[in-house]
Order: sequence, then structure tokens, then C-alpha cells
Amino acid sequence: MKVIIRDNAHEASLWVAHRIAAAIKAKAAVSDKPFVLGLCTGSTPIETYAELARMVAAGELSFRNVISFNMDEYVGLPVEHPESYHSFMFRNLFDKIDEPRENIHILNGLAEDLEAECEEYEKAIVRAGGFDLFFGGIGEDGHIAFNEPFSSLSSRTRVVTLTDDTIRVNSRFFDNDPNLVPKQALSVGVATVLSAAEVIVLATGPKKARAIQQSVEGPMTHMITVSALQNHPDGIIVVDDAAAGELKVNSYNYFKAVEAAENR
Ligand code: GLP
Repeated sequence: MKVIIRDNAHEASLWVAHRIAAAIKAKAAVSDKPFVLGLCTGSTPIETYAELARMVAAGELSFRNVISFNMDEYVGLPVEHPESYHSFMFRNLFDKIDEPRENIHILNGLAEDLEAECEEYEKAIVRAGGFDLFFGGIGEDGHIAFNEPFSSLSSRTRVVTLTDDTIRVNSRFFDNDPNLVPKQALSVGVATVLSAAEVIVLATGPKKARAIQQSVEGPMTHMITVSALQNHPDGIIVVDDAAAGELKVNSYNYFKAVEAAENR
């Protein structure tokens, strides 16, 4: 696992945007096959999406040959609800880039048969060729997508029940009323994320510091599902100084030294 540390959230977000852009361009240079990208929601990726949108507007990048799959969606929330992950993604990214509508995949939390919806999602990912890159965020408890503590590290796309902690944290988007937060969601599994050739997780701010410390320095455990990234050959955690705040000084210095050596 690599950890990239930037001074602030802005720099960390730009690092991720430029890495995604470089990966899309690198594949386009050698192949006609679409680039398959996993995407996340939350407040963390907003600046990364803004930078990707800026690059598209400036003619520096195109999503015409990108197929995307979002990580998760609430169960039972109308698509038009401002806090649905559908709304979020169109507002922050899809309305601003040139990705064809038919290439955009987001789980349908209103499907009549939720299990069939999840099974079909996994099949669609395989049909698309599998993920080239998965871009994720984490919850304060170290969940990736909506893989809450105790999720199997071999889990695939499925219906999940949110923890009280996540409901409380996410209530900030629902008038601070936990009762308005859906209790269930559809989420790709930990194994779905780890099936990507490359996984990039962005975490910023002091509220993520504990989860980052546990997932980087602690053991791999279903209690902190992002810790499964330790078992991925190309996993990168990108943090700002605040989210790196609980790492040991030695770990912090090591990751900085690795990056400096690679850029030499
Ligand atoms: C939700 C999403 C996660 C996201 C997390 C963090 O729980 N399901 O995919 O990573 O929120 O959100 P934020 O970036 O707002 O801290």
C-alpha cells in the first residue's frame, strides 16, 4: 500500500484528479477498449470531480470512452431527491463531462428486486471488462462504499444495513435528522472494489485520521473495511496532513520518503 500525503485537502484532491486523468489517457493511448472507472460520493470527492470537469471543459481530457460504476446508493430514496447519489453524481460530475449517458451506472435503490439489481450490477461490471481504477472515499469508521464494520472482506454488491454511526454522520445531509436518513443501501462489496487493477482512496480532514491510522498501521480487519486495501497489489491512500495526523511519525516520514524517491 502506498500513502500519498499532501499539505491540504485541495492538493490531495488535485493529486487524485490528475492520477485518474493520466490513467484514462494512458489506456486510450494503447487501446480502444473503454476505461472502466469506479466512483464514489460524499463531500470528499467534490474537488476532485471539479478538477476533472475543468479538464474536460478545457479540452485536456475526455470521458467519451469511459464506463463508470458508482459504489453505492440509498434504498428507497427517489432518484430526484437532492441527497440521492444519483443527484449528487449528476450535479458534481456527469452534467459537466462528456461521458455518454449509457456508460453511467448507478445502483437502483428503488428496484423491485434489490438482490437481482445487485447481481446484475456485478455482471455488468464483468461485461464492461472489470475496473481499471476504483476511486473511493471512506467513512469515519473506516467503511469503504457502504461496507460497514463486520462486512465480509470478500463481499460483493448487495443490500446493506447502515450502522447508527453512519446514519448519524450522514444526517448532516438530511436536515440533521437521523430519522430522514435511509436505513439501508445498495453497495458494491469490498471484493468488488479490490477487483480493480488500481484502487485510490481519498480521505481528508481530522475526522478521518483515526480510520486512516487503523487501516494503514493496524491489522486487516472487517471492523475497518478499508484496511482490506493492505491486500491489494496497487492500493493508494491519498490524505491531507489532517487525515494523516494519527499516523506514527516514522510511518509519515517513510511514506514521504518513498514518494520523494519515486519522483527523483
Ligand atoms: C458515505 C458513502 C461513502 C463515502 C462516505 C464518506 O458513507 N457511502 O462512499 O466514502 O460517505 O463521506 P464524506 O466524504 O462526506 O466524508
